[in-house]
Amino acid sequence: MRTTTPHQHSPHAHGPTAHPHADAIQAQVLDLDAKVMADHVDAVIEWMPVHSAPTRIVDLGAGTGAGTFALLHAFPDAVVTAVDSSAEHLELLRDRARRDGLDDRIRTLQVDLDAADWPDLGRPDLVWASASMHHLADPDRALRTVRDALGDKGLLVVLELSGLPRFLSPDTPEGPPGLEKRCHAALEPSASARMPHRGSDWAPKLTAAGLEVAAHLALDIAIDSTENEAIGPYALAALTGLRRAGAELLPAEDLAALDELLDTTSPHSILSRSDLTLRTTRFVWAARRPDTDEADEADEADEADEADDPFSPAAEAANCERVLGSRRHGLDSTV
Ligand SMILES: C[S@@+](CC[C@H](N)C(=O)[O-])C[C@H]1O[C@@H](n2cnc3c(N)ncnc32)[C@H](O)[C@@H]1O
Repeated sequence: MRTTTPHQHSPHAHGPTAHPHADAIQAQVLDLDAKVMADHVDAVIEWMPVHSAPTRIVDLGAGTGAGTFALLHAFPDAVVTAVDSSAEHLELLRDRARRDGLDDRIRTLQVDLDAADWPDLGRPDLVWASASMHHLADPDRALRTVRDALGDKGLLVVLELSGLPRFLSPDTPEGPPGLEKRCHAALEPSASARMPHRGSDWAPKLTAAGLEVAAHLALDIAIDSTENEAIGPYALAALTGLRRAGAELLPAEDLAALDELLDTTSPHSILSRSDLTLRTTRFVWAARRPDTDEADEADEADEADEADDPFSPAAEAANCERVLGSRRHGLDSTV
């Protein structure tokens, strides 16, 4: 495993590296999200309209490696370059790579993706950016850099979130109903100021960067705590973050309600609740460089096999529906 640390890294206000402790908390949330969302990530990987199995993959804003490891398992001949500004996240990713015996297939690069010049990423055939683009101050420039790096048949896959994940039913706790919704509303202004691109429609951004959107997908996710034992710990970590961020913003009644839910020794602890459901919507865009002659030839060859091609226009809708039963939206109306 090759490691480059640090490369063109500079402190920035947008990523979590502004506060080292925040990195540790985010790492915990990322690992829990990876556990809960593993099937969905695998389904997105299966859905991606790649022309052939990618061998050179770049994971932008890789975090602790949710995407990196899923991609390595899906594509056994691939190597992944995991890029992130957080030294701590990359260290955790390398630890896991060593444990899983995958370190010879991973290179890590500590890079601030808001920097004007990136290190050489080679000619990747897949660039994966999951929940990372909205952290950037200038994602438009980052997308142009990705376009320049991609090969003719290369694919960029951008995954983004609709907002913070929700776990509680609206009448939880019994005292002040709508607690989680109020917490999210209270934190929204500062989150929007720090990450103005959060919740964007990425299709126009991809087009403006000189890429063509090949496919998009919206996954409405609802996972019950009885289906996945990581939902409780994930809810605990997420609400711990809300409690910390909302300390100065939330009314005393809500802070007290949060404290009770977060007290793992209390019978009212969030870990004792059987009514937790993770609700979130994840959006996915797959984009590539516009057709070149070479790509046209490949497309002509592909047309001959269209009946068997799972990514032909006709098959695409069926594929989208197939992704864990999630429904496909026109993104204009949902982003
Ligand atoms: C929400 S996490 C997503 C991590 C991972 N892709 C996943 O799906 O679990 C966002 C990641 O982007 C990284 N990040 C934020 N700003 C960045 C920047 N300017 N340059 C590089 N990485 C950045 C963070 O350190 C973090 O690991």
